[in-house]
Amino acid sequence: MINIQNQEDLISENVSRDAKGALTFAGQDLSTLAKTYGTPLYLYDEDRIRMRMRAYLSAIEKAFGGRGNVQYASKAASFKRIYEIAAEEGMGIDVVSVGEIYTAYAAGFPLSRAYFHSNNKTDSDVAFAMDHGVGTFVADNAEELYAIDREAAHRNIRQRVLLRITPGIDPHTYAAVATGKVDSKFGSAIETGQAARITALALSLPYVSLAGFHCHVGSQIFDASVYLSTQKIMLTFIRDMYKAHGFLAKELDLGGGIGVRYVKDQPAPDIEGTLSSVAEAMKETCRELEIPMPAVSFEPGRSIVADAGMALYSVGSVKRIPGYKTYVSVDGGMSDNPRFALYGSPYTVLPVLPHDGAESEICSVVGRLCESGDILQEGVSLPADLVRGELLSMLTAGAYQYSMASNYNRIPRPAVVMLKDGKASLAVRRETVEDIVALDI
Ligand code: LLP
Repeated sequence: MINIQNQEDLISENVSRDAKGALTFAGQDLSTLAKTYGTPLYLYDEDRIRMRMRAYLSAIEKAFGGRGNVQYASKAASFKRIYEIAAEEGMGIDVVSVGEIYTAYAAGFPLSRAYFHSNNKTDSDVAFAMDHGVGTFVADNAEELYAIDREAAHRNIRQRVLLRITPGIDPHTYAAVATGKVDSKFGSAIETGQAARITALALSLPYVSLAGFHCHVGSQIFDASVYLSTQKIMLTFIRDMYKAHGFLAKELDLGGGIGVRYVKDQPAPDIEGTLSSVAEAMKETCRELEIPMPAVSFEPGRSIVADAGMALYSVGSVKRIPGYKTYVSVDGGMSDNPRFALYGSPYTVLPVLPHDGAESEICSVVGRLCESGDILQEGVSLPADLVRGELLSMLTAGAYQYSMASNYNRIPRPAVVMLKDGKASLAVRRETVEDIVALDI
C-alpha cells in the first residue's frame, strides 16, 4: 500500500494513482506526457469538459424545459480547440474581446451563438463583432448602446442586445471577482435608477433590439442562495420595466459563477442542484409578480474547465532556510498562473511519483520569476526527499491559468495538451524564444 495515498485527497475523479503509485490524469501517465511535451505544461481532459457542458445543457433542459441557453464563458480558457468542442456540444459562448471573437471565428464557431461582454467596447470592437456576426451584445452603458445603434444603422440591421444590470448583491467571494454590488464597474445599478434609465434609452434606439437583461454577481460562488436572491431582484426589475414601458424581457441571463473544488474542504460544482433550485424559485417569483417566465441563460466558465485541467511542473531547487521555511522552486510561476499572486487562491499540489514512507514537510511552491511575489502556493505538504527534476502537479488548473498567462520576464508560455481516449494531442504549441521577439521591430 502506498503511504501517501492515505493522506492525500485527489480532489477530482479524473485524478488517480496507478498500481505503482504514480499520479495519472484522465487515465494517462504524467511522466510520459512530461517527457513528450516538456514542462511546464497545461493538460486538459476533453471528456471532462464535454461532461460539464452536457451537465449544464441537460440541467437547463430539465429545469427550464429547454427555454434556456448556456454560454461557455470562454475567458476561463480560450483557444481554438475549446471553441470547437463548445460548437460540437451545441453550447453558446461568452466572448469579451476581439481576440476571443477572432479565436472562436478561426475555430469555425457559429458566432450567432456568441454573447459579447465587457464594460468598455470601443467603436472598433463593436464594428469587429458585427462584421463577424456576433449574435448578441451585452451592453454595459449608454455610450456603448449609442455605438451599437450607430454601427447597426450603417449595416441596416437591428442588433440583438441585452443590458447588463447590477442587482446590488454581495456574493461573498473574493473582492476581485465580486461584480454584482452597486459600486461595481460593470453595468447599471437598479438601486440608483440608472438601470431603468438605460432600459428607456435602449428602447428608444431604432437599430437596437432589446431582448432582455443580464447580470453576473461574481465567481467561485458556493452558496446557491446568492442566485435565489438575484433572480428575485432581476425578475422584479423585469416586472417594473413592463409596467413602466410595456417592455416584457424575453431573456434573463444570470451569468456564471458556480464554485469549483480547488482543495479538499470545498465541494465539487453542483450544476443540476443549483439550476433546479433557481428554476423553482423563478417559477414562484414569476407567479407572485404575475409575469411570464423569461428564457434563462447561464454563462459558466470556471465550472466547465477547472477540474478538466492540470498543470505539470518540474522541480528545480529545494531551498531550506533553517528555522524559517522551505522553498520548492518549479520551472513555471506567476507567468503561467498568476492566481495565487493576485487572489491568494488555494490549490492542491501533489508530487507525481510516490514517496513511500517519506517524511513530509510544509513548503512554499514558488516559480522562477524575478519577483518575491512569484508564489504558486503556500503551506503545501510535500515529501521531504523531493529532488530536482521530479514532477509536481497542480490540480484543478483548467480555469483562468492559460488564459491569464503572460510573458513576464520574457518567459515563453507553456503548451496546452488535450487528453482523450488514452491519446494526447497538442492544442496550443509551446512558445519559443523566437515567438518572444516576433513582435519586436
Ligand atoms: N459571465 C460574466 C459576465 C463574467 O464576467 C464571468 C467571469 C463569467 C460569466 C464566468 O464566471 P465563472 O463561471 O468562471 O465564475 N480571473 C478570475 C476570475 C474572473 C472572472 C471574471 N468574470 C479568477 O482567476 O478567479
